[in-house]
Amino acid sequence: MEYSIMNGQVQLRDVIEDDLHVFFEQQLERSANHMAAFTSKDPSDRAAFMKHWESILEDEKIIKKTIYHNGQVVGNIASFGQFGNPEISYWIGKQYWGKGIATKALRKFLPYVNVRPLYARTVKDNVGSIRVLEKCGFIVCGEDKGFSNARGIEVEEYIFKLGINGEVH
Ligand SMILES: CC(C)(COP(=O)(O)OP(=O)(O)OC[C@H]1O[C@@H](n2cnc3c(N)ncnc32)[C@H](O)[C@@H]1OP(=O)(O)O)[C@@H](O)C(=O)NCCC(=O)NCCS
Repeated sequence: MEYSIMNGQVQLRDVIEDDLHVFFEQQLERSANHMAAFTSKDPSDRAAFMKHWESILEDEKIIKKTIYHNGQVVGNIASFGQFGNPEISYWIGKQYWGKGIATKALRKFLPYVNVRPLYARTVKDNVGSIRVLEKCGFIVCGEDKGFSNARGIEVEEYIFKLGINGEVH
């Protein structure tokens, strides 16, 4: 049966160890890897995934939340330093896509990150992620290229920026 978010709210809560197993399963999805493009070299490497997330959990500078709905862990969202700037990233389990969850989660997450400008990067063809960012006030401020592990080629990406009060400075 198709997942519904009619009942209950999309919520953020602190990440607990048990969530990591759900995040691992969610990031295995091939089409999601293609979509995100900038992924780990081997998403099926559970030990590498757990080690990476353990270091995230230990790093107090990284703001990270589990996205939660009706008792389900539906994804995760985080803010971390990347290329010298504070950036955000998020991942929603495939069965929950297209229901406004990423948009609601990002809107709830932004007040936790009290630094502006705040940045995000997305491969140019990740239409869903681009819409999520635009709906939350981010606008394109640049472009870059990078190697996509998921696609095995260099891909073009947009750099998005959110300024003070949603304005870009
Ligand atoms: C990208 C992603 C976060 C979107 O999550 P989501 O919960 O489905 O997003 P929402 O439901 O909030 O959708 C926001 C908007 O994007 C649109 N959208 C979502 N996925 C889309 C897709 N695959 N193609 C076209 N539009 C899409 C929605 O229609 C909506 O637009 P609208 O309000 O104008 O109708 C999710 O697909 C995902 O986690 N993908 C894998 C990981 C990834 O790409 N992370 C981001 C890396 S930059």
